[in-house]
Amino acid sequence: MSLELRNIHKHFGAVRANDGITIEVETGTLHGLLGENGAGKSTLMKVLSGFHAADSGEIVLDGKQVELASPEDAIAAGIGMLHQDPLVFLPFSVIDNFVLGSPGHRRLDRRKATSDLRGLCERYGFNLDPALPARLLTVGERQQLEIVRLLWLGARVLILDEPTTGISADQRGKLFATLKSLAAEGMSVIFVSHKLEEVADLCDRVTVMTRGQVVGEVELPVPPEHLVDMMFGQAVEIRDRYPVPLGNSHLTLDTVRTATGLLSEEPVSVDVKAGEVVGLAGMEGSGQDAFLRICAGMLAPKHGTVAVAGKNLTGKHYRDFLAADVKYLPAGRLEEGLIEGLTITEHFVLTGADKRFFVDWAAGRRRAEEQVGHFNIKGTEASTAESLSGGNQQRLLLALLPPNLKLLLMEHPTRGLDIESADWVWGQLLARREEGTSIVFASADLDELLRYSDRILVFFSGRVIGELEAANSNVDEIGMLIGGRTADTDLGNSR
Ligand SMILES: Nc1ncnc2c1ncn2[C@@H]1O[C@H](COP(=O)(O)OP(=O)(O)O)[C@@H](O)[C@H]1O
Ligand SMILES: [Mg+2]
Repeated sequence: MSLELRNIHKHFGAVRANDGITIEVETGTLHGLLGENGAGKSTLMKVLSGFHAADSGEIVLDGKQVELASPEDAIAAGIGMLHQDPLVFLPFSVIDNFVLGSPGHRRLDRRKATSDLRGLCERYGFNLDPALPARLLTVGERQQLEIVRLLWLGARVLILDEPTTGISADQRGKLFATLKSLAAEGMSVIFVSHKLEEVADLCDRVTVMTRGQVVGEVELPVPPEHLVDMMFGQAVEIRDRYPVPLGNSHLTLDTVRTATGLLSEEPVSVDVKAGEVVGLAGMEGSGQDAFLRICAGMLAPKHGTVAVAGKNLTGKHYRDFLAADVKYLPAGRLEEGLIEGLTITEHFVLTGADKRFFVDWAAGRRRAEEQVGHFNIKGTEASTAESLSGGNQQRLLLALLPPNLKLLLMEHPTRGLDIESADWVWGQLLARREEGTSIVFASADLDELLRYSDRILVFFSGRVIGELEAANSNVDEIGMLIGGRTADTDLGNSR
């Protein structure tokens, strides 16, 4: 069955989850859909499987445009989707789950269904006992149950959304073998993942998505650096850096480890000087987030020490870090950074230095108006945080930062901003270096890391596997490290 998605748009409020996506999937192939978290992959697949209605665009099956108003429509048209968390009803038995969703007008013949289930299991080498309660199945077996159920319902296009999360390496090997044999039988398999190695291992072809758009499509195999390039942006000419003289140590991590699994393998020791910019690279969840939270005093290390400007703050409260002029701008601007329902003025009053009992609202409003103008925020001092667009929320967060910080920690400082706004934001940030502020930021954008960092730490699987001088590095080198490949080892395969 040939399958085309044409110019699919899907917005959630101001978020353009899918912004004009066109993809063609050939019959009998394993097609990868690769992109960072938030790229819009699941949204697109939910549109294709009838869970979401697209705002606009077309789905074309075998040359005919189809309307898929529900998952039932989709499976009737031959499209089945395995969600990230298999939709298995745990109290029910395997066979009851298997027959779930079979068309209601057909009288259910349980004996035939049971023998069909057995037949399918035999064919794909699965071992599912029809009478067993589904809660006793492993996640891998629940996936197997979903696969045979969708096949039984007549799926000819099978979508798997991040299917390797939570299954063992063994089960993954088995899943991949099953998917390969399904494709060989003429099934179209769409494999959704943010893990580059998996797509590279399994798929015939891959479409790469970033920020709701397709940024590339290639026939595999290609060198992994090539996929990293597409996922994280093409290398562009790097502008001249304006280095500032570095000062004393502002952040010193000495043999830090946590017990949460992140940063657990090897202790991390890092020293960041006044005026220095350190970028953190790596796939989402490779340890950068834990690292930043440790530096911000939001996560206490299990071993080692954290010092800010020479003062040991290990195990101290988040407030002690604030008092030491450490600020953290999280990726969740509205969730963690700003307060929903409060106006811009209220944000300035809350973060202001005036701690008297009565709030000076007039002064708060004046300050808000002034900063709205200075930071070019599209809104007024009476606008609520949530009414601002992502870019303006980020401008507000920057406007709220006090001067003369020792250490500024950020996650994805320009995610979701257009190039102009991103450039403006970095102009503001880099100016702070002159006051001696040290900046440590995590980003998925390799160009941003190369352009603005002095040094780049690359995280993989919870450890720092590389440290690079940004001026002497490039997208390819970081890309290799991000994928777990160093010059002499191949960590990607030992995971
Ligand atoms: N139901 C929803 N309501 C609001 N926003 C959503 C919803 N689903 C996804 N989004 C947003 O759409 C964007 C794309 O999400 P998603 O399709 O889940 O990406 P991916 O699967 O590539 O990680 C994200 O910014 C996400 O927060
Ligand atoms: Mg997803």
